[in-house]
Amino acid sequence: MSAEAPAHADYALEATMQISWQFDYEFDLAKLRNLYSKAKRDQWDAERDIDWSIPIDPSKPIVDETRLVYDALPLMKKLSAPQREEFRAHVAAHMLSQFLHGEQGALMTSAALTHAVPDYEGKLYAATQTMDEARHVEVYERYIRKLAIVYPISPWLKDLIDLTLQSDHWVKIAIGMNMVVEGLALGAFHNMRRATTCDLLRQITSSVLQDESRHVAFGNVYVGETIRAMHADDRESVAQFAFDAIKAMSDSQGGPRGDGPRKHDPGFLQVLQQVGIEPKEFIEGIIAAQAGGVRAKLPPGQIHSFRDLMMPALVRVGAVTERSRELYAAAGIPIWEDASQLEALEEGSTGDVEIPEA
Ligand SMILES: [Fe+2]
Ligand SMILES: [Fe+2]
Repeated sequence: MSAEAPAHADYALEATMQISWQFDYEFDLAKLRNLYSKAKRDQWDAERDIDWSIPIDPSKPIVDETRLVYDALPLMKKLSAPQREEFRAHVAAHMLSQFLHGEQGALMTSAALTHAVPDYEGKLYAATQTMDEARHVEVYERYIRKLAIVYPISPWLKDLIDLTLQSDHWVKIAIGMNMVVEGLALGAFHNMRRATTCDLLRQITSSVLQDESRHVAFGNVYVGETIRAMHADDRESVAQFAFDAIKAMSDSQGGPRGDGPRKHDPGFLQVLQQVGIEPKEFIEGIIAAQAGGVRAKLPPGQIHSFRDLMMPALVRVGAVTERSRELYAAAGIPIWEDASQLEALEEGSTGDVEIPEA
């Protein structure tokens, strides 16, 4: 449900969720206390700790061309060299715009967690995540201004974050944000840190990554305990929410024809227009390439967010039940359970962890 936006807001949502006071002030989850301690210790300041004097050239691609999935498509060969370069620069700006908007969503979901989690240590931890997300909005906004273009949020991302913000239980917020959206973000940030040719962006992304691995760890530590203690009906409601979020994310990655997200993404269509590529031709090119067996292969060392982060995280906390396994099977969504890459990233809360080559 949406409401009339107040002055200065672009969009407003109505949400109903219980907000909890807690008067015992007791820490009894050691793992959560550790996470809170780490979060306080590892706070950084975007103004002081990032070297904003590193120059960037907005006319040059900021991502290594061999790592851009579109380069595998035959239609890219039809573009002139300058056109390809411009296309890559705008695709990267579109992706960074999604990072920025997603961070604003994370800022709001972590604030909602601070309201709603029933435990004292959970509230303190969520407050640190709220500050982390504020810093992430700050750095991506500041960086993206240097590229001189902010693309609108992709509709699927907005729908997923709205679904999360409007859910009726904090566990669903933690699943939608800390596992699904942040699972995607953690993979994307990790891949961006490897792929970018811009020193400033690498510095920003490394710093953000330190925080994000903690956010994903929170989902595991806290949500798992709560789901295990839930009544079976409530657990099923959580499992249904997790499935709905994953299905929305899966559909957003292309659906069976592979044209979904781009065709319905005004920002991406704007990228194509900017570079002078006819959208219809581009979409048809993608479909033809996929039908012809051309698959965008992940370069070595890249993380596959679905396989390596999101699904193992959901299975690990008990958000996938016997009943919901049938839903995944019917939707053709595989359930990956190997949490080794996820655990490696969580361990590496310092952000310097190396992931084994895929
Ligand atoms: Fe973030
Ligand atoms: Fe985060």
